Amino acid sequence: MKVLSGIQPTGRFHWGNYFGAIRQYIDLQTNEQAFYFIADYHALTTIRKPDELRGYTRDAAVDLLALGLDPNQASLFRQSDIPEVPELTWLLMTITQMHLLEKCVSYKDKKERGVAADAGLFTYPVLMAADILLYDSDVVPVGVDQVQHIEVTRDIAQRFNHTFNCEALKLPNASVLDSSAKVPGLDGEKMSKSYDNTIELFDTPKRTKKRINSIKTDSTPVEDPKDPESCSVFALYKLFATPAQQDELAEKYKAGGMGYGEAKKTLYEAAMDHFGEARERREQLEKEPDTVEDILQQGARQAREVGRVVLDRVRSACGIAAN
Ligand code: ADP
Ligand code: TRP
Repeated sequence: MKVLSGIQPTGRFHWGNYFGAIRQYIDLQTNEQAFYFIADYHALTTIRKPDELRGYTRDAAVDLLALGLDPNQASLFRQSDIPEVPELTWLLMTITQMHLLEKCVSYKDKKERGVAADAGLFTYPVLMAADILLYDSDVVPVGVDQVQHIEVTRDIAQRFNHTFNCEALKLPNASVLDSSAKVPGLDGEKMSKSYDNTIELFDTPKRTKKRINSIKTDSTPVEDPKDPESCSVFALYKLFATPAQQDELAEKYKAGGMGYGEAKKTLYEAAMDHFGEARERREQLEKEPDTVEDILQQGARQAREVGRVVLDRVRSACGIAAN
């Protein structure tokens, strides 16, 4: 099975990104082909500060490696190191119908939130289709918000094959990441950098503690029993704890006598413990920028090797260059 996914470097990764996406990338990396890339071309539709984009892209690579992405099993690369991607994007663009893009919820949402509606944002799903189709991907692990884009990718592939009476493009399937992993943020809404309610994976211990202490809780007095299931602190703790540990904390909630401050402290300790090794690996990788760059370059070579074959097939099918 050929697995592929991409993640945008639009900010520092947070718990939602890890439990909703990155953890699955790592679980799936033992597949026949596992390609993961940092979608810097996509990020360019929202970030217009060059140093910021470069920094987030570098941080994304370091974070993914620190969290356990193994370059001997999966290829990790920067989207912008693959010139075949923009070329395929154009070829696909020529057969993509406007209405397909007009109905994309993610575009409409961003426009509503005030992101400038330029051609890049509008054609974002075509670039994403090229990312996927270039490597004959079978399975694309994504969050629910991206499922529509995979459907668009399938539509585009089908239309290309139909238009040129060929089978140059393989139709991929979305693999929807565990929907129970909709990680809540500080305010109880979905954790997202757009809502400024995130807890970053590798923030300093001090700031991590501060963020955890600011998770919204109700005003039940310390001595009263509390409901774990309606509490964001407990929901977040569940991500880190074993079932036995979850039961133990749930009992304390229900028994009364425990304040939310204590639950937050338990959450903080569990999180620091969970990401402790990754944090150490991250510190080491930070000192070895050349190693990280070599890994990205090697990943790009592996991806281009596969991509070249598919692109040649597509070029030939639509009458560009050779035969
Ligand atoms: P953000 O919402 O912070 O901008 P992205 O949209 O860049 O994050 O998300 C990157 C990946 O992380 C996607 O696959 C998305 O589904 C996943 N993800 C982001 N936030 C959450 C969350 N709160 N719960 C589960 N998955 C999430
Ligand atoms: N649009 C995806 C997101 O915001 C990122 C992405 C770009 C992607 N290209 C992709 C995901 C290809 C999967 C496959 O999360």
